Amino acid sequence: MISNVMPMDFTTTIEGGREYFIPSPVINSSVPRKVDEVFFNPYQKVNRDLSVLVIRAFSNINRNVDLKICEPFGGVGVRTCRYATEVPSSRIYYNDVNSKAVKITKRNISSLPVQIQEKIKIQNKEFTDFLNSLYLEHPIMDFVDIDPYGTPIPYVHRSLKFVALKGLLAFTATDLASLSGLYPRAMYAKYGIGVFEKRIGNIHELAARILITGIQRIGLIQNQSLIPVFTFYYRHFIRTFLIRVRGVDKVLDQTGFLQRCQTCNTISQSSVKSKDRGCSSCGNNQLWRIGPLYLGKLHDDSYLTSLIADPHINVINGSKRISRIINLINEENKPNIPWSYDLQSVAKIVSRPIPPMESIIEKLSDAGYKCYKTHYSGTSLKTNAGFNDLSAILMGANE
Ligand SMILES: C[S@@+](CC[C@H](N)C(=O)[O-])C[C@H]1O[C@@H](n2cnc3c(N)ncnc32)[C@H](O)[C@@H]1O
Repeated sequence: MISNVMPMDFTTTIEGGREYFIPSPVINSSVPRKVDEVFFNPYQKVNRDLSVLVIRAFSNINRNVDLKICEPFGGVGVRTCRYATEVPSSRIYYNDVNSKAVKITKRNISSLPVQIQEKIKIQNKEFTDFLNSLYLEHPIMDFVDIDPYGTPIPYVHRSLKFVALKGLLAFTATDLASLSGLYPRAMYAKYGIGVFEKRIGNIHELAARILITGIQRIGLIQNQSLIPVFTFYYRHFIRTFLIRVRGVDKVLDQTGFLQRCQTCNTISQSSVKSKDRGCSSCGNNQLWRIGPLYLGKLHDDSYLTSLIADPHINVINGSKRISRIINLINEENKPNIPWSYDLQSVAKIVSRPIPPMESIIEKLSDAGYKCYKTHYSGTSLKTNAGFNDLSAILMGANE
C-alpha cells in the first residue's frame, strides 16, 4: 500500500481501481493560489474517467494497435498513469512545468507494474519547449490531451501540429464565467463570439458550443476541421474531444446563428448565408442572436455506442454516475437540435413553478412533440416544441 510510505503532506486517492499519491490538502479551485503549488482537483475524476473511456472508444473504432498519447499539462500524473494502465497498448508522453508535480508523478509511476512504467516518458518543461522537444523524437501523436487552467485556447494552435490526421484532441475549459457570457468582453477576446445579449437556451450547452467554435476557428486558419465526437459539462468545466480532418467545409457547413425571439422567446437557428432571420414561430424580426457558432452535433454515435458497450466502465469507482452521464448524452444526441430549453428560464418568464420533468415530457409527447433529457441539468430539455407549447404546459393550460 502506498499509504504506508507516504509523507505527511500527501494523501491518496483511488481511481480506475488503483491508488495514487496526491498532495494534501487537495485544491478544489480551478487555479492554484501560488505558481508552484501542486494541483490536484478531485472533481476532475469524472473528466479522467470519461477521458479513459473516450480514448478506449477511439482505439476501438480505429483499431489502433499502438496509441501515442501526449499529456503536456500532466499535474501529479494520475491521468497519465490511468492512460497507461487502462488504455490498451498506449505509450504516454507526460509533461508538467512544475517540478514538484513531476516528483509526485514519478512516485505514482514507480508504483505501477514495470512493463507499464516502461510505457511512460516524463518531461519537466514549459508547454512549448515540451512540444518542440517531442517534435524531434516523435512528431505525430494519436491523442493530445490539453488540460490547463482556465481556457485551452492559447494551446490549440501548437497542439494541432502534433496530432495525426484523424487523430484525437481533447480540451478542458474551466473558465465558465467567460464561456457563459458573464464577462462578454472576455468571451469575445478568447473565443471570438461577439454578441451575448440574452441567454439562449441552456447556458452550458451554449458554453460548450462557444468553446468548440473558438477551438475550431484556430483549425480553420490552418485549413483543418475539428469535429466533436464527445463533449460534456460537469460542475465547473467543459471537456470536448475532437477529430482533426483536412479542409474547412465540415465545420463551415455546420456554422450559423442561434437566436431567441424578443416577442415570443422561441429559439431557432439560421445559417450564415440566410437573409431571412425572422422568428420561425411568430415572424417577428427582433431577435437576440449569437454566433457564428458551431451548430452540428456535439457527439458521434459510434463513440456513444462504444462507450455504452465498454465493460471497462465497471472498473471505475463511481461507475453509476459515469453511466448516467453517458446515457443522458446518448439521449440528447438523438435529435438534431443545437440548443436545449432550460425549464428554469421558461418558468421565470411565465412566473410559474416547474412541474416534475416526467410530467412535462408526458404532456409534450401526448401533444405529438419529441423531447429528450440532457446531461446539462435536470431541468434542461431538447424538444421540437416551441416556447409557447412549453410555457402553456407550465401555465397549466394543457391540464
Ligand atoms: C489542471 S492541472 C492538470 C491536471 C492533470 N491533467 C490531471 O488530470 O490531474 C494543470 C497543470 O498544468 C501545469 N502547467 C501550467 N502551465 C503550464 C505550462 N505553460 N507548461 C506546462 N505545464 C503547465 C501546472 O503545473 C498543472 O500541474
